[in-house]
Amino acid sequence: MQRRECVRNLLGLFAGSPLFAQQAPDDVNLPINVHEFEEAAKRKLHKFAYDFIAGGTEDEHTLRANREAFSRVFLVPKFMTDVSDVSTGVDLLGLKLKSPVIIAPTGGKNLVINNADELVAQAALNKEILICTATGVQKLLADGKPLNWWSNTIGSKTKDQARGFARRTEDGGGKGIVVTIDNSYQSNRDRNNRNRFDYGYMSFGVPKDGEVRKPVNPARPAMWQPHTPSMTWEYIEWLKSGSSIPVLIKGVLHPEDAALAVKNGADAVIVSNHGGRQLDGAIGSLDALPDVVDAVGGKIPVLMDGGIRRGGDVAKALALGAKAVLVGRAPLWGLGAYGQAGVERVLQLLTDETRLAIALSGKRRPAEMDRSIVKRMQVWR
Ligand SMILES: Cc1cc2nc3c(=O)[nH]c(=O)nc-3n(C[C@H](O)[C@H](O)[C@H](O)COP(=O)(O)O)c2cc1C
Repeated sequence: MQRRECVRNLLGLFAGSPLFAQQAPDDVNLPINVHEFEEAAKRKLHKFAYDFIAGGTEDEHTLRANREAFSRVFLVPKFMTDVSDVSTGVDLLGLKLKSPVIIAPTGGKNLVINNADELVAQAALNKEILICTATGVQKLLADGKPLNWWSNTIGSKTKDQARGFARRTEDGGGKGIVVTIDNSYQSNRDRNNRNRFDYGYMSFGVPKDGEVRKPVNPARPAMWQPHTPSMTWEYIEWLKSGSSIPVLIKGVLHPEDAALAVKNGADAVIVSNHGGRQLDGAIGSLDALPDVVDAVGGKIPVLMDGGIRRGGDVAKALALGAKAVLVGRAPLWGLGAYGQAGVERVLQLLTDETRLAIALSGKRRPAEMDRSIVKRMQVWR
């Protein structure tokens, strides 16, 4: 058995057990930032799983655009205000959050480790971080744990199905429904195609080294596989007819879509390009954020995700008008490197870095971050 497989199996074996929780802290503090958690996860994970998480679509223009957008934006701090009392707290859609950092929905976590969804949910609970997930929260909820969670859906074909989903989420204690609108078709991911990635693997974990995999024809089913291509704005009304919890629209990039989301009753929009995993060539999320904020005009909260690896990134998004941000890959790098303890450390790092960035910007609260302290620079290459 190769060493990395051995490590993976051990992590899987101890996941969720007290032994796992006791063992991890020794070296979980070695990585000092999210980038180093990614390096650690890359060393431990099967290439198949690492590529699935890290990758974007086709030439990965949008994946890079998400990170590059942050390097064009600079904070212009204003000093000599009293920043001795700084908080990362945010009021959002009826919730009092301790951090503006929210865990984004990420399918396929069990490629990383067994029980991945439960471990991430447990980490969110321990760190009091809001989590958006379709799975993994059930056990915690059954144990009566006070987890704040949103459900995630890419839509359903009929009004009855949508109503049923909304009702089940609300009955299960969900605090909101996140509708992903950029996933009408399965996207074309070169890394997965090269690895002969089979989405069937996601339901039963990582294939063993040396296992013979059936080649996937990149033209099918990787491409042109429908998810919910017929979904339109009436879907919001369908969900709302089944529950009274907020509906958030994830995947908004065009300002007109933002205005339509408001018009059609959305309670929040999330500026997102799916972490560069859907349309390659789509605009970087931070670049899209200001126009969406303007189109929404303060009527509902605007959130964003894509490329966030640092508290300074969170601070820039807040300054450009985001109320909160979601992180997709960052917690998965913590998970891949050190299991649940790694997720907790990543969440702590991001929140601590955000607090410091707010303070060093001369502000005391996320809500005080505004456009007066941010500048977007044109960088010529
Ligand atoms: C492995 C993985 C799986 C994902 N699965 C979903 C999903 O099921 N639904 C969804 O709306 N977004 C999904 N996303 C996108 C994330 O919710 C989020 O938009 C994106 O990861 C943010 O970019 P970041 O990874 O740079 O933080 C996934 C992302 C990754 C990395």
